[in-house]
Amino acid sequence: RIVYLNGAWLPEEDAKVSIFDRGFLFADAIYEVTGVVGGKLLEYQGHAARLQRSMAELGIACPLSPDELLEVHREIVRRNALEEGLIYLQISRGAADRDFAYPKDATPTLTLFTQAKAVLDNPKVATGISVVLLPDYRWARRDIKTVQLLYPSMAKMEATARGAEEAWLVEDGFVTEASAANAHIITAEGTLVTRPLSQAILHGITRASIVEIAQQAGIACEERAFTPEEAKAAAEAFMTSATNFVLPVVAIDGQPVGAGTPGPLTLKLRALYVARKV
Ligand code: PDD
Repeated sequence: RIVYLNGAWLPEEDAKVSIFDRGFLFADAIYEVTGVVGGKLLEYQGHAARLQRSMAELGIACPLSPDELLEVHREIVRRNALEEGLIYLQISRGAADRDFAYPKDATPTLTLFTQAKAVLDNPKVATGISVVLLPDYRWARRDIKTVQLLYPSMAKMEATARGAEEAWLVEDGFVTEASAANAHIITAEGTLVTRPLSQAILHGITRASIVEIAQQAGIACEERAFTPEEAKAAAEAFMTSATNFVLPVVAIDGQPVGAGTPGPLTLKLRALYVARKV
């Protein structure tokens, strides 16, 4: 692969970052994942806007203008002849002597790479996936998309160890989100229930589109927190992210959700999302 690092296009083995980089020492870095289908960027404006917001929250200045950043995204797709998959972008505060206080003069480290992946024809859409409920032990500012991903990794490992594919995280008796996706349910009445935006969850770009698409399709939508019990008793469940789009969840803690197969409204929302965004 050809990757981007601070203005340079390099073979991946030549891209090197300092051991003093604060992304490495403090997880003082943010990231974005943008889907690519047919060589085209998906929901780019949403990802770019969230990136700006995360950077503003941490006081990291982007070395590129918005136009330059878009051009780098397009260029990395071209240079890697990426048809389908994702672009990973990370920006850290940069390298400095180890100190908890932010350094005054660090130069941010900006890097992008691509990953090929079948996002459109994901075989898990037909089967759905199973999830387990785990406590949400992440930090409390999940609205900032930082690279502090150790607990989500641990949760994924625990889910796999229990024979499931993903974890849904629970805090104070309510589901927050999945380890790397937003969590949603559909009630027996056909209402989409999704947790409202706050610091407790990442403000998913796919989530925002799905709420809008549901409303346009005449599916009622309630933005409120839901409990694990409500999720287990729901008619349908699914999660959303840039690379999963809409992924059906068919079991929670070993209990089937609804009929135990991908739900009709879930599949409808996925089809509408694909038709509109891809
Ligand atoms: N994850 N919640 C969390 C904790 C996430 O990490 C993500 C995305 C989402 C969904 O956001 P969006 O729809 O904007 O992708 C929700 C990315 C894909 C990842 O970490 O790979």
